[in-house]
Amino acid sequence: MEYDKAYSNTENLFGTQPEKILKNHIKMLSGIRPVLDIGAGQGRHALFLARKGFIVDAIDPSRVAIETLSNKAAKEKLHIRAHQCGFEDFVPQTDYYSGIAVFGLLQTLSWRSIGLLVDKIGRWTGPGTLIFVTTFTTADPLYDHYAQTWTKIGKNSFSSDDGSIRTYFKPGEVLELFDPYETVHHWEGMGPRHRHGDGPLERHAKAEAVFLRRK
Ligand SMILES: C[S@@+](CC[C@H](N)C(=O)[O-])C[C@H]1O[C@@H](n2cnc3c(N)ncnc32)[C@H](O)[C@@H]1O
Repeated sequence: MEYDKAYSNTENLFGTQPEKILKNHIKMLSGIRPVLDIGAGQGRHALFLARKGFIVDAIDPSRVAIETLSNKAAKEKLHIRAHQCGFEDFVPQTDYYSGIAVFGLLQTLSWRSIGLLVDKIGRWTGPGTLIFVTTFTTADPLYDHYAQTWTKIGKNSFSSDDGSIRTYFKPGEVLELFDPYETVHHWEGMGPRHRHGDGPLERHAKAEAVFLRRK
């Protein structure tokens, strides 16, 4: 997906509501350090957190995403520092984060990039950090479509001619991402039916998890 174009065409491409796992675990987040939203998009999670009083670093390579989010934050006088960059180039201005959100990003990355991201997140966490993750699993209704029409680039991972990627996690595989941390929440199943703008009705097989770094 070309996100600049998609975000220009549709105001709230992924809706306005944050993922429930963020709402449900917000009381476990410490306000002492900022929260990092990786692949923040149009900011439904960053805005939710900042409205609750958290300082948020939001990163996304999409210019339109970062402009939109910065404008909304300025209008509401919210403490969001929006950076137009990928996680690959981001340099945090804090020793570590109280929470790190990775909503809907992993399924668009190769396994190599996922490995790099997990390494970086490991360096950006400390005692008490919560990590929030949602991604797609191999039970996704579109898995067969991508497996048949795109080029296989890894285990359950496929690329289109223009470089878009879909990588699917096997059931339970998401738990291996942050092995040394405690799993506070884990759920896998069919997500709700939804549309992106005026696109077709979609439904995804999702894995969601919240991990806690104890020490
Ligand atoms: C499916 S959208 C999810 C947006 C948002 N997290 C949400 O749930 O509404 C994925 C986002 O990840 C961003 N993204 C893609 N590659 C990235 C990277 N290397 N680092 C950080 N964000 C990236 C995209 O620009 C896009 O905004």
